[in-house]
Amino acid sequence: MAQINPSILSADFARLADEAEAVRGSDWLHVDVMDNHFVPNLTLGIPVVESLARATDIPLDCHLMIEDPDRWAPQYVEAGAGSITFHVEAAAAPVRLAREIRAKGARASMALKPGTPIEPYEDLLPELDMLLIMTVEPGFGGQAFLDIMLPKIRRTRELIAKHDLELWLQVDGGVSATTIERCAEAGADVFVAGSAVYGAEDPAQAVRNLRELADKASVDAWWACEH
Ligand code: DX5
Ligand code: ZN
Repeated sequence: MAQINPSILSADFARLADEAEAVRGSDWLHVDVMDNHFVPNLTLGIPVVESLARATDIPLDCHLMIEDPDRWAPQYVEAGAGSITFHVEAAAAPVRLAREIRAKGARASMALKPGTPIEPYEDLLPELDMLLIMTVEPGFGGQAFLDIMLPKIRRTRELIAKHDLELWLQVDGGVSATTIERCAEAGADVFVAGSAVYGAEDPAQAVRNLRELADKASVDAWWACEH
């Protein structure tokens, strides 16, 4: 079944506990950490993640858009995140980092910006619990979905099947009721949605709608039939 992870980047930062409550029933809460170096925007850090982890039972999916994730990622596990995504473009030693995250008890995930190909990382995939394919340039919510990322999603799904991996494939950026089916058909099974959820009148209902659309679209997809 498709997993929907609302991104709190589009939520009201002064009311994060309520905003988490507003998407009850979501699989994960997506937390975008930006350092104004890796991306041209600044959001939140470890103290906010710690507080949010105490304030909600929804597990936290921390997306680190920061320099030097090798240094910082383990501290986000200690802060209470259940899944940590680092960017391969920023990591000095992605294998060592993924192993450290797993050893500390969280799911390890690696993200690729739109311009970063998947092929060089084929051998590294067994070290990961999730791969994130960015469908916008990271940094801001509310951007238009990049259709040109669909072939990369498809090729990644093929690699997952080829190696028979239990790897979740996440997409992030511009995911909405009009784009989620394309992502699901191509092979994604974890969907981040910021503006499409928090911009809706009823965010919890928006999550249910997105999940239904993704489930329907993936049922007949080639990659889902094999499971
Ligand atoms: C963008 C962030 C996303 C963002 C998505 O850099 O990584 O998680 O919140 O927002 P939408 O769904 O509005 O594109
Ligand atoms: Zn994100």
